[in-house]
Amino acid sequence: MKGVILAGGLGTRLYPLTKITNKHLLPVYDKPMIYYPIMTLVVSGIRDIMIVTGGNHAGEFLRLLGNGKEFGLTNLSYAYQEKEGGIAHALALAEEFVDGDKVVVVLGDNILEDSLEDAVKEFEKENGAKIFLKEVPDPRDYGVAEIQGNRIVNIEEKPQQPKTNYAVIGVYMYDPDVFEIIKTLKPSARGELEITDVNNAYIRRGELSYHILKGWWGDAGASVDALLETNLTVARKIKENPDHWWNWKQWKEKNLEGKN
Ligand code: DAU
Repeated sequence: MKGVILAGGLGTRLYPLTKITNKHLLPVYDKPMIYYPIMTLVVSGIRDIMIVTGGNHAGEFLRLLGNGKEFGLTNLSYAYQEKEGGIAHALALAEEFVDGDKVVVVLGDNILEDSLEDAVKEFEKENGAKIFLKEVPDPRDYGVAEIQGNRIVNIEEKPQQPKTNYAVIGVYMYDPDVFEIIKTLKPSARGELEITDVNNAYIRRGELSYHILKGWWGDAGASVDALLETNLTVARKIKENPDHWWNWKQWKEKNLEGKN
C-alpha cells in the first residue's frame, strides 16, 4: 500500500504565521507539523510515500525531508499542486505514483495519537474505501458522518446543523478506483474538488467502511487556537509517555540508528 500526504493549500486561517512559510512546516511542539503524518504512515507500516504540496515554499520540503531516510522510508516522492483546487484535486496528482495500488491518504495538518497498523492490515483484504471518525463536541468545521444502524449513509461537509457529533478526520484509505471517481467530480460552492464527495460516491457504491479513533486527534491547521491546543496536547502527552513515537528522536534511536 502507498501513502500520500497532502500539504498544499495557502493556510490562510493561520495568517500571518503562514506568510513566509507553508502551514505544514510550522512547529508542533518539538518538530515540524509534517513529521506527524509521515510518522503516522511509518508506524502503520507504510514506507513508500508521496508528499503533494504547492505555493511558494514547496522547495523547503525537499530541504527538510530530503529522501526520507531519517524516517526509514524506502521512497519519498513529491508532487506540485499549481492551484488550491481542493483535497481531491491534490490527491489526483498522485495517480501515477499510486500506480494501481491501494493508498492511505493523510492530510498534512492532522495529528493522530493512534497507529493505523490494524486498519491498514484490514484494508489490505477489502475493496472500496475506509474512513476514520472521532466524536467531537462541535463538528461544524469538519465533514460530519450521518449514521444509521452501523452504516454511514451520508457525509456533509461543514454542516451548520450536524446530524451527529462524528467528525470525519483527515485519513482516508482507497482502492485504485478513487482516481476514476475524482475525474467525475464537479467543484463545490467553495470552488474545490471535495474529498467528502469522493467518500459519498463510495457510500453510494455500498463500499465505505469506517473506524472510530480511540486516541487523541487534532486538526492543527483549523485555527490558531487549534494549533496552540495541538502543541500543548502533544507536549503534555510526550512527557506523560516518552515511549510514544511522537517522541521522534527516541523512536529514531531505537528503530533506525545503525540500520540505515
Ligand atoms: O481535518 C479534517 C477535515 O479536513 C475533514 O473533516 C473535512 O471533511 C475536509 O474537507 C478537510 O477540511 P479542512 O477545511 O480542514 O481542509 P483544509 O482546506 O484545511 O485542507 C486540509 C489539508 O489538505 C491541508 O493540510 C492541506 C491540504 N490541501 C488542501 C487544499 C484545499 C491541499 O494539499 N491542497 C488543496 O488544494
